[in-house]
Amino acid sequence: MPCPISNVSATFDPLDLSDPFPPLAQARRDAPVFYSPEIDYWVVSRHADIKAIFRDHETYTAANTIAPIAPFSDAVQQMLASGDYSPEPVLSNNVPPSHTRIRALVNRLFTPRRMKSFAPAIRDIAQRGVAGLINQSPVDIVAELTYEYPAHVLFHVLGVPAADVPQVKAWAGNRIKLYYGRPSADEQIEMTKNLVPFWRYVVDLVAEKAREPQDDLTSDLIRMRAGDDSVLTLNEIASCMITLLVAGHETTTAQINNALLHLLSQRECWEALSRAPDAIPQMLEEMMRFDPSVCAWRRLAVKPSTVAGVEIPAGANLLLMLNSANRDDAVFPEPDLIVATRGNLKDHLAFGYGIHYCVGAPLARLEMAILLETLTRALPELRLLPGQQLEYTRNISFRGPESLWVAW
Ligand code: HEM
Repeated sequence: MPCPISNVSATFDPLDLSDPFPPLAQARRDAPVFYSPEIDYWVVSRHADIKAIFRDHETYTAANTIAPIAPFSDAVQQMLASGDYSPEPVLSNNVPPSHTRIRALVNRLFTPRRMKSFAPAIRDIAQRGVAGLINQSPVDIVAELTYEYPAHVLFHVLGVPAADVPQVKAWAGNRIKLYYGRPSADEQIEMTKNLVPFWRYVVDLVAEKAREPQDDLTSDLIRMRAGDDSVLTLNEIASCMITLLVAGHETTTAQINNALLHLLSQRECWEALSRAPDAIPQMLEEMMRFDPSVCAWRRLAVKPSTVAGVEIPAGANLLLMLNSANRDDAVFPEPDLIVATRGNLKDHLAFGYGIHYCVGAPLARLEMAILLETLTRALPELRLLPGQQLEYTRNISFRGPESLWVAW
């Protein structure tokens, strides 16, 4: 019998997100922690191990969460330096005490209460988006609605001009492919040409808000610092903005797409939500468990440790398979079934866990629920076009179909 450990490791392609669940089920069973030579990461697949790693932020830091999978070439580093590209660790890839200081400020922006105050504006964005679809059946609902919807919501909240959505979406997609995919040397250079203007854009935006603060969260961050660099520097605010302008919509776009795919594939779920919209928040939570858009996230081991009996050396990179944790039957019985009434739904790890738990979770939950309410009400007859080929971008962390053809 072949060694199960090398078997999983040999067949696992961490960048291929088209059908990740079968190999991960095998990993949970046979090799819960294994080494992936393709990316030089230790892959962790069980819920308990991943949660313990998230909890122990002194042994496992988040310092590598934005490290490029394909290290930047000298040419790329040169381009970044000459473009004054200077984002610094603030949230996702930062460590205490700096993370603690910045996170405490950003937490004050994204409270559920503050997010609820945006609900009427979000509903308006959702209604306009859905109204734009009504006469288009059949349509790629990603291209016409879900690609831009979360960016319009986020831009409203942050006070970024709506006219810039297409440009920022393009920059954000480019940044994901550059850091989380494996571009060739030439592709890296092309992508870097787009990264430098993205950074300049956020620096200019922050400077403008500093000159003329308005009623938005970016201006609130500027007000909090009150000119005091020991509270927060302008460069730290720009670094928060570039993070938010990627993390705050690409994730939600992909999560909505995953939810639509599954709800329409099992149409009784869609019909149930059309009849009883009160069930939408629970169902969305189950969708996040079932197919999380941030399918894997990273940690860096700074001390030697043991995970599931496997020795992890100091300096090792860990790839935590959140989509696998969420299908672990030790926590979620019959994990491959959609069951929105699970008593422990919030134990899913789709938003991470611990000190880096997704700061945008209240906004993501609200905007996804509003869109689903609007869609189920306007288009209860919505259905998937049969026989379509789903495409997933090659990368290690962000999973959602690139297009989704629907009709009604
Ligand atoms: C469904 C959509 C979303 C998903 C699946 C998601 C998922 C995640 C995950 C897995 C993490 C890492 C947590 C950890 O390391 O423990 C994270 C962190 C983060 N997310 Fe989200 N996210 C979503 C939406 C958003 C939105 C809407 C925003 C902003 C408005 C946002 C901003 C952030 C930020 C800034 C962090 C870093 C927090 C820190 O390190 O302290 N996310 N998210």
